[in-house]
Amino acid sequence: MIAERPRTRFTRLRRLRGAGALRGLAAETRLSPGDLIYPLFVTNGAGVRQPIEAMPGCYRRSVDTLIETVAEAAEAGVRTILLFGVPDAKDAEGSGAWAPGEAVQQAVGAIKKAHPAMAVVTDVCLCEYTDHGHCGVIGPNGEVANDPTLELLARTALSHARAGADMVAPSAMMDGQVAAIREALDDEDYGSTPIMAYSAKYASAFYGPFRAAAGSAPQFGDRRAYQMDPPNRREALAEIRADIAEGADMVMVKPALAYLDVIAAARASFEAPLAAYNVSGEYAMVKAAAANGSIDGKRATLELLTGIKRAGADVIITYHAIEAGRWLGEG
Ligand code: PBG
Repeated sequence: MIAERPRTRFTRLRRLRGAGALRGLAAETRLSPGDLIYPLFVTNGAGVRQPIEAMPGCYRRSVDTLIETVAEAAEAGVRTILLFGVPDAKDAEGSGAWAPGEAVQQAVGAIKKAHPAMAVVTDVCLCEYTDHGHCGVIGPNGEVANDPTLELLARTALSHARAGADMVAPSAMMDGQVAAIREALDDEDYGSTPIMAYSAKYASAFYGPFRAAAGSAPQFGDRRAYQMDPPNRREALAEIRADIAEGADMVMVKPALAYLDVIAAARASFEAPLAAYNVSGEYAMVKAAAANGSIDGKRATLELLTGIKRAGADVIITYHAIEAGRWLGEG
């Protein structure tokens, strides 16, 4: 009599999960440090390194201490930085945004000098520089005026290009901002400077920590009259289509986590490189939950970033970039 052997049957689905190296071979989505863009807040002065309360590990920095962070990013394999300015003074027009001596313009030059291979992208918006905190100038009826803002955004983008920015990223959500910036750049021989458009930028609760960090919260009203309404997906595709027609080289969905379906739809509809912005509130949630022991911060972070890529993003703008780059490098 033949003894009955216990048999376990596996399918491919489980067989390839057994060993880490095999899981790696079967992975459909790969995250690498070069996919990540690290946002930085730069301010005037020297030796400044002010912690941002809701965003552990993030600081407002002056140009000198910023360079140290850029070196850390480079060591972690991150190849692109996104700069936001935190000025000392604000006015109704946001004139600091295009002032050649402001922190962003200074920082671009300093980073390119110290780390020529690091790509420097600049956020083009007025909200950090206006005394009312809106992303454009206020018109006679108290609304954010569209066309008068376009010229100021174009001036700002041009000042960044002159400072040596590798790419400019308009985030004000004014209609026609990409075309206005493209024209201004082309007119001054910056025809090779690309535009990463914040195309589908939603009016989100998840920008809270950023606004505290940049001092850019609106002093009256909110941004719902120019940023997108969260229920809308088809509208996001229309925004992206318009930006590509106006000359956007890369497009963006922002925030990321509550908008993975929008990222997937954008990926399916357009060929342009697609960025997703894993915003300040998303970062703050993970850090808070990890700090109180509810989740494993490293695993949760890599899972979220992988999810954003799997949804269809080519590029992820994230405050986790340096730590994630290091974790990915550890293998
Ligand atoms: C500027 C801008 C904002 C963010 C990026 N660019 C703030 C806003 O629109 O209020 C938010 C980024 C983040 O929350 O990480 N308009």
